[in-house]
Amino acid sequence: MNRYRSLFFIFIGSIAIVSGSFTAFAGAERRCQMCHDFTTGENKIGPSLKGIIGRKAGTYPGYEYTFTKYIKGEPWVWTEEKLRKWDNNSERAVREFTGNPEAKTKMPRQSFTGVVEDNIITYIKMTSQGGVVSAEAGAGVSCKMCHDFTTGKNKIGPSLKGILGRKAGTYPGFKYKFTKYIKGEPWVWTEEKMRKWDNNSEKAIKEFTGNPKARTLMPPQHRTGSSEDEIISFIKITSEGK
Ligand code: HEC
Ligand code: HEC
Repeated sequence: MNRYRSLFFIFIGSIAIVSGSFTAFAGAERRCQMCHDFTTGENKIGPSLKGIIGRKAGTYPGYEYTFTKYIKGEPWVWTEEKLRKWDNNSERAVREFTGNPEAKTKMPRQSFTGVVEDNIITYIKMTSQGGVVSAEAGAGVSCKMCHDFTTGKNKIGPSLKGILGRKAGTYPGFKYKFTKYIKGEPWVWTEEKMRKWDNNSEKAIKEFTGNPKARTLMPPQHRTGSSEDEIISFIKITSEGK
């Protein structure tokens, strides 16, 4: 009973959050995410960029920097302007910021400009301001309370990493409820099936299994129109880049 109860409250919480225009910048920050985390604080190939705006350069705990050895005195503080220079050309930026023409960084040059760069900056601002919640503001937000899309971790719901093209109810390590209603081969998740599911998982599970008694643990999300389109494009982007 408790499990259903907490699912219910999470569901109520999820509809209270207005979804922003995630599609406006979806994807751009993913180029940084190959090497950087923005929200959990974990160091990857590069240091975590959680709260990067306002942070002193080269100071994230537990990360071994290369460029810090060229800093004399106090490190600079990351501002939007400095980040733009860095995204645009980290090799040049590190020389400018340290005032040392020999300075080097192990971050490969990114050469981002124009709209893509603006999108990256917007994303970074969002993650810097409000930590995790505003970082995830946008189409995927209500799904992200229960689902991971990128790391492969199961949460309240199964990870949706690479969900398009995946067989339903097969993500390793997750205890599904709806699978017991599947007779034969499970369906493969397509955009069309995903739309039905986002719209009303209770109805969709009956249709997909052909069993009017079929149930699912996932509460109906009632996604339609542009908010649904945003979720679908978000899912497409995360599915492509698995
Ligand atoms: C191929 C991996 C890779 C990619 C892609 C990448 N970075 Fe980096 N980044 C690094 C590494 C490695 C460092 C550490 C540099 C050093 O120590 O010299 C770093 C450092 C940084 C720092 C300094 C952090 C601090 O604590 O001072 C910022 C800011 C940064 N990256 C932003 C970005 C942004 C924004 C993007 C996307 C546009 C991006 N990076 C893409 C590997 C990467
Ligand atoms: C309150 C938590 C919650 C929210 C919010 C939620 N889900 Fe789920 N979702 C679940 C649970 C739990 C399951 C497993 C259902 C089962 O086993 O019956 C699931 C299953 C799924 C599956 C099937 C995955 C598979 O491996 O076959 C998809 C697809 C899915 N959810 C998509 C979404 C999308 C897209 C959103 C956002 C619109 C969303 N979910 C929001 C809890 C949630």
